[in-house]
Amino acid sequence: MIKLSNVEKSYDDAVVLKNCSMAMERGEFAFITGPSGAGKSTLLKLLYCSEQVDNGHISVDEWILSKLKKRTVPYFRRNIGVVFQDFKLLFNKTVFENVALSLRIHRMDPREIMERVKLILKEVKLLHKSDVFPQYLSGGEQQRVVIARAMVSQPMLLLADEPTGNLDTDNARTIMRLFREINTKGTTVLIATHNEDLYYGSGRRVFFLNNNHIEKEIVG
Ligand SMILES: Nc1ncnc2c1ncn2[C@@H]1O[C@H](COP(=O)(O)OP(=O)(O)OP(=O)(O)O)[C@@H](O)[C@H]1O
Ligand SMILES: [Mg+2]
Repeated sequence: MIKLSNVEKSYDDAVVLKNCSMAMERGEFAFITGPSGAGKSTLLKLLYCSEQVDNGHISVDEWILSKLKKRTVPYFRRNIGVVFQDFKLLFNKTVFENVALSLRIHRMDPREIMERVKLILKEVKLLHKSDVFPQYLSGGEQQRVVIARAMVSQPMLLLADEPTGNLDTDNARTIMRLFREINTKGTTVLIATHNEDLYYGSGRRVFFLNNNHIEKEIVG
């Protein structure tokens, strides 16, 4: 499902990734960790095609990202759900509309949008907040909306960058439970975090990114 072979990525003169290789099967649930500045977010951005590799091979399913044309990127992204810090909720739209937006862009039938969005908001236990604007939600509630938005199009891959960053333990647990549920339904999940509580005892694969590449892999 995900394959990186000898990926290289620099920003100006600063090398972030070099000889970086990893692979994940469809349906897996894995973590990527490593020190601050190691390149975890960069790796996720490469997988979402919001950054390009300088050298090496990177693919998601049948999509070879280094060869993707600019106009194809939106089609590729339909298959990916993201929980990224710089991909915030729209504060001038309600919870419902935030979650519905990607389906509207894909011109889905409005009745189906209504059904799907309601179902997903029920799953994240926010159906009663459908008509509320995000600024009136707690941090944990906002993050559940972000996850609902990422899940609503039933992506084949979900990428999450420090998804529990500012949340308390209870909220972090809820978010992790949602990810496990998404994964059970067939979505491959990759979470970048430096919080070892998230992967410790999970029994999942944990990739350690350090010195520009995946230095080792453990079972969490
Ligand atoms: N757009 C950019 N332009 C220039 N340098 C960048 C850019 N994005 C990231 N970097 C640099 O690349 C390196 C890796 O950053 P990245 O955000 O991927 O690390 P990270 O592992 O996610 O760290 P953290 O745990 O702090 O989130 C850092 O040294 C950072 O300064
Ligand atoms: Mg980061």
